[in-house]
Amino acid sequence: MVRALHVEAVIPQRQAKALVVFFSRTGTNRLLAESIARVCPADIEELREARSHAGALGWLRSGYEATYRLASPTSPLRSRLEAYDIVFVGSPTWNRAVSSPVRGFLRASAGKLKCVALFATCAEHGAEDVVAEMAGILQPRPLATLAAREAEVRLNSDVQARELVRRTLGAWQITFE
Ligand SMILES: Cc1cc2nc3c(=O)[nH]c(=O)nc-3n(C[C@H](O)[C@H](O)[C@H](O)COP(=O)(O)O)c2cc1C
Repeated sequence: MVRALHVEAVIPQRQAKALVVFFSRTGTNRLLAESIARVCPADIEELREARSHAGALGWLRSGYEATYRLASPTSPLRSRLEAYDIVFVGSPTWNRAVSSPVRGFLRASAGKLKCVALFATCAEHGAEDVVAEMAGILQPRPLATLAAREAEVRLNSDVQARELVRRTLGAWQITFE
């Protein structure tokens, strides 16, 4: 017997205007950010560094900055953060800490972000610590968070994106509709 599945859709009465802001050194967060922007749908902005974290020296600097909770400057965004209902923010895990470009962005933007959803990727462990740390830098609490392993994101980033977007829009709807 074939049974019809009842899927409860999250359909906000008003479409939230959303932006995805992320930093990615090796492409994983870019993949996830692009999926989130497609699924939501949302505008998207990659944080561009003043000084690159690429290569072996960049890797060393990334670890040093994350360990000592340093912020790294990024170029100004094209978007005006205040114009968005929801801003998704994504970071790689560096030594179980927030990447320095995202730390810089969060410190500079905290007052301008109304509602956020946070995501982080890691190779194995630490993305949970990163979303918790990001939430600590920001006020108020995030609508939703996602801590993802790189292998899962590379396999199918749309699966994680859909889950984060569903929980984020659901929480936004409850809070603001
Ligand atoms: C300096 C540095 C430190 C890292 N530390 C961790 C870590 O503590 N735990 C972990 O699982 N992955 C760690 N990683 C791996 C990245 O978090 C992981 O590859 C992530 O998905 C990269 O995202 P991106 O491709 O968007 O830059 C580290 C990577 C770098 C460059």
